[in-house]
Amino acid sequence: MPIETTPTFVTEPAADAQFVAVPFGRDLAPPADLPLPVDALLAHYEAKGEPGEVVEVPVALGSGIRRVLLYGVGGGSAADLRKAGASVARKVKGGARVWIRVPETADAAALAEGALLASYTFRIGAVRTPPDIVFVGGDEEALRRGETVARATALARDLVNTPSSIKSPAWLADQARQVAASAGLGFREDTALDGFGGIRAVGQGSAYPPRLVELTYAPEGATRHVVLVGKGITFDTGGLSLKPEEGMKTMKTDMAGGAAVIAVMGALATAGVPVRVTGLVACAENAFSGSAQRPGDVITQYGGRTVEVLNTDAEGRLVLADALAYADAELAPDVLIDIATLTGAAKIALGLRLGALYATDEPLAAALLAAGEATGDRLWRMPLIDDYRADLDSDIADLANVDRRMSGSAGSVAAALFLREFTGGRPWAHLDVAGPARSTADDGEITKGGTGFGVRLLLGYLASLS
Ligand code: BES
Ligand code: MN
Ligand code: ZN
Repeated sequence: MPIETTPTFVTEPAADAQFVAVPFGRDLAPPADLPLPVDALLAHYEAKGEPGEVVEVPVALGSGIRRVLLYGVGGGSAADLRKAGASVARKVKGGARVWIRVPETADAAALAEGALLASYTFRIGAVRTPPDIVFVGGDEEALRRGETVARATALARDLVNTPSSIKSPAWLADQARQVAASAGLGFREDTALDGFGGIRAVGQGSAYPPRLVELTYAPEGATRHVVLVGKGITFDTGGLSLKPEEGMKTMKTDMAGGAAVIAVMGALATAGVPVRVTGLVACAENAFSGSAQRPGDVITQYGGRTVEVLNTDAEGRLVLADALAYADAELAPDVLIDIATLTGAAKIALGLRLGALYATDEPLAAALLAAGEATGDRLWRMPLIDDYRADLDSDIADLANVDRRMSGSAGSVAAALFLREFTGGRPWAHLDVAGPARSTADDGEITKGGTGFGVRLLLGYLASLS
């Protein structure tokens, strides 16, 4: 159920509009033509125009009532406007039509994005009627840009929120196929997985076989090539290294990186991204069964390196390693970026709002950090500490998938160091989004459940390239 609201864009509200939202802020006085003692009202509610503040007042409209929402926009930054849009949307009950007046000089894209993302819901069963949002004034092109980003983010949320009883690897690949068809992308899926020992080993315990999905976008005249790799574990039991119940119950989220890649790919053309982009999603279910891989098994990753699987719950790095090595060997990327709910350690380090960024290339790191600040999908740079690389040595294979002493320290760094082995020295960034991929509550434009983290970030980054 992606965003079901279809926003419309007008220059003036209808004369009989019953629900009108009007901005005010630190540098923006509310319009003088409201039939209200606005100053007294705002003083009464101690409203200062901060983003998130909404003061509702009823006004006579003929023999009926018009509700006016005075909404704060703060200093008018993109973050302020996302929050402002979200606060207005949250005041609207399903089915109601709200007319949101767009502040004149504001970043209309951010306002639209916030309003649309906050009105996202995911339901299986009784459907909620979405609000009907009309933007009044503002740059229509910018508003549509915001809508594009919001719709892509909502698609990623839908994919994450879908239960794993539905969401098999084949289902996820099929969603990618549909996105490709409607966005004019190339689509390929590999189910034979010859040479992809990591994806096969992780998927071998499941009744639902694994696959590698490849989506391609090649705008005319593009020279640079970015490859995005997403972790698409449709459910992570931990495998034979079984997770406890508490850690397992949210593991339908473990394909959030793959969901972000699919959603970003689907929006590239509309967003006018000027570079070539390939999206790879390594889809598998990490199941617990008699055919599951065992702790101590040795697998051969794409390209021939062997890995001793000491912990079957460190499965994400095994599927990503194959995809990264494949990208390096076959796709000649100028930039490689992977996104994955990879470690609980990243979640502990940075919490639920920030993604962990690892990078082997300074300009790439700087561009991603900047895109994160601009779009709201914020990142924090983490270190690739060479001294820890030896912890991943194996007694019998080229590498172990976890520290064989099981020290458990710096788990997110260790996972990143493991992945780096498969990137062929190319400019590479790794986003560990185990924390921010899922939210425990509605907050601003974020909704409870899957957040679509990474979609806004990657679209912002890719749109900034030339
Ligand atoms: N999918 C999990 C990581 C995860 C944890 C994502 C919490 C979201 C929330 C990953 O496959 C995993 O199980 N990682 C292990 C690695 C460990 C065995 C080295 C972890 O973090 O415990
Ligand atoms: Mn796991
Ligand atoms: Zn996992």
